[in-house]
Amino acid sequence: MRRDNWPKRTYNPAMAESIQVSLGDRAYRIHVGRGLDGLSAAVPASASKVIVTDKNVGRLYAQKISHMLNARVLTVPAGEGSKSLGQLESVFAQLLAPRDLDRQSVIVALGGGVIGDLAGFAAATLFRGVRYIQLPTTLLAMVDSSVGGKTAINHETGKNLIGAFHQPQAVWCDIAFLETLPTREYVSGLAEVIKTGVLSGSAFLAKLEQSASAIVARNDEVVTRMIADCVRFKAAVVEQDETEATGRRAMLNFGHTLGHALENLYPDRWLHGEAVAIGMVAALRLSVARVALDAAVAERVTRLLHVLGLPTEIPPELEAQAATAVMLGDKKRDGGAVGFVLLKALGEPVIQSCTIDSALLHTLMGPRDERT
Ligand code: NAD
Ligand code: GLY
Repeated sequence: MRRDNWPKRTYNPAMAESIQVSLGDRAYRIHVGRGLDGLSAAVPASASKVIVTDKNVGRLYAQKISHMLNARVLTVPAGEGSKSLGQLESVFAQLLAPRDLDRQSVIVALGGGVIGDLAGFAAATLFRGVRYIQLPTTLLAMVDSSVGGKTAINHETGKNLIGAFHQPQAVWCDIAFLETLPTREYVSGLAEVIKTGVLSGSAFLAKLEQSASAIVARNDEVVTRMIADCVRFKAAVVEQDETEATGRRAMLNFGHTLGHALENLYPDRWLHGEAVAIGMVAALRLSVARVALDAAVAERVTRLLHVLGLPTEIPPELEAQAATAVMLGDKKRDGGAVGFVLLKALGEPVIQSCTIDSALLHTLMGPRDERT
């Protein structure tokens, strides 16, 4: 693999990009680059604003953003546990108690995907819907969760089961936030980047392969371009299928069926992107078996996941029965079958309804399945 030698922090402001998500009266722009230019102007001074953030992000950035927007700050605990009915109730209590909000108010989601999903869902339902702005602070949130208006909390029976489609008013992906993001979280976000590469096609994947070392080093220009490419791809998908009605948007769930099952079965073991990385490798194996994906492509993607530091192995102790039960609980179930996103070739995903039987599990879980 070619190793490039871009210097780490030579940021060219001309690299900043503003990408339109064209959804008629719900259209909005996603700004990618260093800084939050235009943020204050985007929120009417007369509107009351509340920043929803988590403890880690709040400690680092809430004061600055609160000052910039003249907004009050509402802080929740960090982590997936905050995407819960209990936490949502607490958020509503804190939104409503001061009685300073109305339908013109703006909620600002300052954090990773957890905050975007939770604050976005609160915004979707408060007063039957108020405006919100996404300030994603993790790579995963910048390339995926802040784009497209999916908001949700979890239920004890599964992830993201209670939610709404509610598009943000605008999104700022300020790469300066990534400077404090722990390496493991950054690498986890790279799983959704690779997913985008797989769905987009060979050229995007080649770019990722060629820039692997600059991506790992978080080179400003490379990271800005990478995020903008992902946002552009996702924006186009969302424009075609905003509410996941035609199957086009469902393609973005590549790797997520087993990924979500792993997250449900082992809540504290993997970050979202790590579970998706393992799920993608399983989906690639299934794609080779069921839709004639070239095994070399599966190997190529698995190698890139590995090079960027993501896990690719299903844990040997994962029981086939448990995985089956959780996958059948997945929102995409259809009787005893699950809709898997498979790959015919790079850039050619297809959804196939697969009955969960021992043959499917054998393929999905890989060679170690002999044990179960
Ligand atoms: P996260 O929001 O939990 O953030 C990860 C951790 O990093 C947290 O501890 C957080 O406090 C910390 N953090 C965030 N930004 C930081 C920064 N700049 N500096 C230091 N620490 C920082 O996790 P995530 O990976 O961003 O998001 C995962 C969630 O996103 C999952 O709940 C998943 O379901 C959801 N998701 C939603 C969509 C969607 O379309 N809505 C898409 C993909 C994932
Ligand atoms: N992350 C999948 C979607 O937004 O549809």
